[in-house]
Amino acid sequence: SSFVHQLADEQLSEAELLADPVEKIIAVGGVRHPSIPLPVELFGEWKNSGGIDLQERKILAETAAAVAAFPFSPVPKGTDSGAAAETRAATGHVGAAIDRAAAAFPAWSSRGREERATILERLADLLEENRIPLMSLAVKEAFKTLPDAIGEVREAADFCRYYAARTRSDLAPLVLPGPTGERNELRMEGRGVWATIAPWNFPLAIFLGQAVAALVTGNTVIAKPAPQTPEIARAAVKLAHQAGVPEDALILIPGGPEIGAAITADPRIAGVAFTGSTPTAKKIARSLLEGDDRPIVPLIAETGGINAMIVDSTALPEQVVADVLTSSFRSAGQRCSALRLLLLQEEVAANVIEMLRGAMEQLVIGDPGDPATDVGPVIDQAAYDHLMGYRESAKGRWIKTLPVPAQGLFVPPTMVRLDSIDDLSREWFGPILHVATWKAGALEETIARINAKGFGLTMGLHSRIARSAELTEARARVGNLYVNRSMIGAVVGSQPFGGEGLSGTGPKAGGPHYLQRFCAERSVSVDT
Ligand code: NAD
Ligand code: ALA
Repeated sequence: SSFVHQLADEQLSEAELLADPVEKIIAVGGVRHPSIPLPVELFGEWKNSGGIDLQERKILAETAAAVAAFPFSPVPKGTDSGAAAETRAATGHVGAAIDRAAAAFPAWSSRGREERATILERLADLLEENRIPLMSLAVKEAFKTLPDAIGEVREAADFCRYYAARTRSDLAPLVLPGPTGERNELRMEGRGVWATIAPWNFPLAIFLGQAVAALVTGNTVIAKPAPQTPEIARAAVKLAHQAGVPEDALILIPGGPEIGAAITADPRIAGVAFTGSTPTAKKIARSLLEGDDRPIVPLIAETGGINAMIVDSTALPEQVVADVLTSSFRSAGQRCSALRLLLLQEEVAANVIEMLRGAMEQLVIGDPGDPATDVGPVIDQAAYDHLMGYRESAKGRWIKTLPVPAQGLFVPPTMVRLDSIDDLSREWFGPILHVATWKAGALEETIARINAKGFGLTMGLHSRIARSAELTEARARVGNLYVNRSMIGAVVGSQPFGGEGLSGTGPKAGGPHYLQRFCAERSVSVDT
């Protein structure tokens, strides 16, 4: 039997698992201080944000001090808070907000591409200038670690600059050929009022990325953040208004599912950009079809995944270990892109698992505002209870788990053995990594079994065999395939992000085909 099975046969007690005597193996960067994408010059037409390079420990420490000093105490999540009261009040305000956004549409959409693009660039500058308050909110409201909080601000600014550039380059009217005496033009125009509905796990980058894409294409926007993270959204919207977006062109409506449902139920909504779970995406899709007179409107849905990494016997074990820890435990596993299912070729399973068990011990679990922290708490009590319940149910199959601070919503990073690749059929949105094995020669079958799960977000391959990489590229039905690297942290403009199947509709955020989906295409033919 495979090593994974042998480990289960040992049936280690929790105490033994916690006090694992495996020699610590930490040979790799990216474990203690996961890499942050470096600024990259792309096509010369835009640049990733280079202003916040905080990789150096010194700057990280200074940032940590500034973040710690920032005065903000989030209302405890899941309580009847001020935000919840605001939510109830807002239910009655959805219609009025859509009235305002609809009234603002003609003026905003006629502003012109250049002006809207310039406003987005101003917003990017403002995000960077206000990075400390924004990062503080990311840490204190969303429990982001400092590197993740830096990533939030960077990605949000990158979305603004990238979409501004693409608006200029891709959305100009096209003059098309036609009979003599006729002028034919294809125009990309705003559709009306878009609803943007965001998750809590990227409360700045995704929240703002959706909204600015809709805005820069000439739409007005009703933006609903997740109920767990209203304050960072409020700060972002304030900066957008400061940058020049009219107040009625971007209206924040904080609240939970009932507010989201009320927004998408309104027949004046001309499109929905949603990021969150697959079941919610399906609910929204159904709601958009209700009502015989309701216009048919686009839904852009980016959802979850059962993301697998395949490791063969030629892979570099140290690199695999670094990439697995980054991909599965960074952000406490609360990324849609995170690694959920590690598939080790039987011949190397024992060695890689042993190294992973040692390397996991080096993870620092604790206060997300501490620069040394790798893994912070999960978002709220409901997520904690859900994950801890599942972890407990898998206790007989634990390969390794870690001690966590007694106070706080810390889910212990845990490796869980699976008997078969097919045993995982849903997304567990936290620091729980499942491990199974595959047999030499079965790469194609292994990919097919991952595809058969129906999700299609991220997949990883670690192999030095070019043929295996080619086969995986050809067969993997995922939006983002990562070969010999980690599976998280897609960079705007370099790794357009989004999935297929149960993982979403596409198009990809941060990619060249995203903005078009927010537009109405109008062909105008004039007999001159
Ligand atoms: P969720 O689906 O519970 O909520 C997402 C948003 O939808 C929230 O703002 C919520 O209030 C709203 N909502 C809930 N019910 C609604 C309804 N009936 N109508 C309209 N809006 C409604 O997801 P979550 O727990 O906030 O986020 C985690 C999930 O998001 C995970 O599944 C993760 O994989 C996914 N995610 C995907 C991506 C991606 O780009 N593919 C990125 C981040 C997160
Ligand atoms: N875009 C995010 C990532 O790649 C979800 O991790």
